[in-house]
Amino acid sequence: MYFPRYRARRTRKTETLRRMVRENHLRVDDLIYPMFSAFGENIKKEIHSMPGIYQHSIENLVEEAREVHALGIPAVVLFGIPECKDSVGTDAYSDTGIIQRTIRALKQEVPELTVITDVCMCEYTDHGHCGVIKDGDVDNDSTLKLLAAEALSHAQAGADIVAPSDMMDGRIAALRETLDDNGFSHIPIMSYAVKYASAYYGPFRDAADSTPQFGDRRSYQMDSANRLEAIREAALDVEECADFLMVKPALAYMDIIRDIKERFDLPLVVYNVSGEYSMVKAAAAQGWIDHDKVVMETLIGFKRAGADLIITYHAKEAARLLQDS
Ligand code: PBG
Ligand code: ZN
Repeated sequence: MYFPRYRARRTRKTETLRRMVRENHLRVDDLIYPMFSAFGENIKKEIHSMPGIYQHSIENLVEEAREVHALGIPAVVLFGIPECKDSVGTDAYSDTGIIQRTIRALKQEVPELTVITDVCMCEYTDHGHCGVIKDGDVDNDSTLKLLAAEALSHAQAGADIVAPSDMMDGRIAALRETLDDNGFSHIPIMSYAVKYASAYYGPFRDAADSTPQFGDRRSYQMDSANRLEAIREAALDVEECADFLMVKPALAYMDIIRDIKERFDLPLVVYNVSGEYSMVKAAAAQGWIDHDKVVMETLIGFKRAGADLIITYHAKEAARLLQDS
């Protein structure tokens, strides 16, 4: 099969031919939309580094969730901005916490929308770390108890899936055991299995008000230079009975997405994180790139790399573009 008898351009000649030989597809079912629920009323505050993304009080969040559902997007992932923060993140596992109240409102008003909850401490602790602090660092084993309590309380409020993002060792087993012991053996765990310490989370920390007040997250999130460690992390979570694996961030970690997809048979989620979104918005605002085309090229890139599901702030935009195409 050599030129000039074989010509690769033959199957690219028309849109119909290109459609026929297309190998990967983005579907609205692949999208998960992140939402920020803030304590209070009448809040609709745009995050300055993330145009189009808001902190919403519950009634406004429900409104946007209706729109998300109407677009055919199957699921949202919730982050909370509580009224009060303290050293042990009490709001995270309180029955009247911001997320627990948001889940109940969503399940009441938009019951068919799948509600995934971020399970972590950083939005609820006054120091902004993902667990409890002992001797200047996050203490793994005492944090597990709080994370398990948080996941259980989300499930009790009606969450459909819990998604731990803290990167403590043993958390999937701890959550699974607590959920099972309390009648929630049917609730899946979406593990942020492979989560790197990343500067791409910068805008999110404005959005969720979760910037660490001292130090950084490198004693628990992964070093971006490492590849084999990602496989070990994912293997541990599979052993501990995770139902979904996640790689995060996405764009700078396409090789890791492919590695995890090839080695594990669980559904693979990738998180197209805040900094990746902000960069596209900033360049588009300058008129330097074609926004819609860059968004769709990025999302199909994740699918090609091996993603089954994509958590993305572009979900609503992408759903609309898919309808138009
Ligand atoms: C909380 C959490 C973070 C993100 C999702 N869950 C921030 C962090 O770990 O600092 C980042 C998401 C994004 O940047 O869009 N642990
Ligand atoms: Zn966290």
